[in-house]
Amino acid sequence: MKVVVLDDEERIGSAVGEQFCALAREKANAVFGLATGMTPIPTYQYMIAQYKAKNVSFSSVRTFNLDEYCDLPRAHKNSFYQFMLQELFAHIDLPPAHIDFLDGNTTDEFAESERYRTAIEACGGIDLQLLGIGRNGHIGFNEPAENFTVESYKTALTPSTIAANSIYFDDVPMPKYAMTMGVGAILRAKKIILIATGSSKADAVKTMLEGEVSPRCPATALRDHADATVYLDPPAAARLCH
Ligand code: GLP
Repeated sequence: MKVVVLDDEERIGSAVGEQFCALAREKANAVFGLATGMTPIPTYQYMIAQYKAKNVSFSSVRTFNLDEYCDLPRAHKNSFYQFMLQELFAHIDLPPAHIDFLDGNTTDEFAESERYRTAIEACGGIDLQLLGIGRNGHIGFNEPAENFTVESYKTALTPSTIAANSIYFDDVPMPKYAMTMGVGAILRAKKIILIATGSSKADAVKTMLEGEVSPRCPATALRDHADATVYLDPPAAARLCH
């Protein structure tokens, strides 16, 4: 796993955003795997700025997001779908029909998982997957567990994740479940970039890179991927030995 440390989150956003823009320029029908959270926002801002400067078009790109809350309407301001609209999709020329999301309100999680797997496969697989990391080492909403997960599934969120994300919920209680791509599905991406910024991620980053590969820290699975790069700012890299 390659590790790149850059001075701040803006520089990381430019470096990672440029890779998404380059892929959109070079490959017709490129497939992006996208993430929510505060971490990818500078990346999305860079992509928006490049689009507005007419340096890139996303009109043939297809996107799949990692996860979505259960029991929350897609139109609710805290859904990950709305987050992506606000932070990226509404500002670029990505056709709405090219956006795919797990349905957190499905009544059949197994059918939804299979629909998502098939839809990604039909597009030729994810070319470039963007990830953040939770303070407990989760990727997507794959929380620490006894086994690595594979396909998309419905998961119960841990108290630490609920505590971290409930600050965004002011009108309804934060959902306790989410639909997420499994670790195995994430690892099928041809290239993976994980971004971690800030001191609150330093412990998770250390375990991801220097701890034993274990589902107790789901991000450690990335160490088995052939083309995974981690972008860190100095506070997130502070606890690394090398
Ligand atoms: C959320 C998301 C993850 C994200 C993580 C970190 O729970 N499901 O995809 O990487 O939390 O979020 P942030 O970037 O805001 O720290």
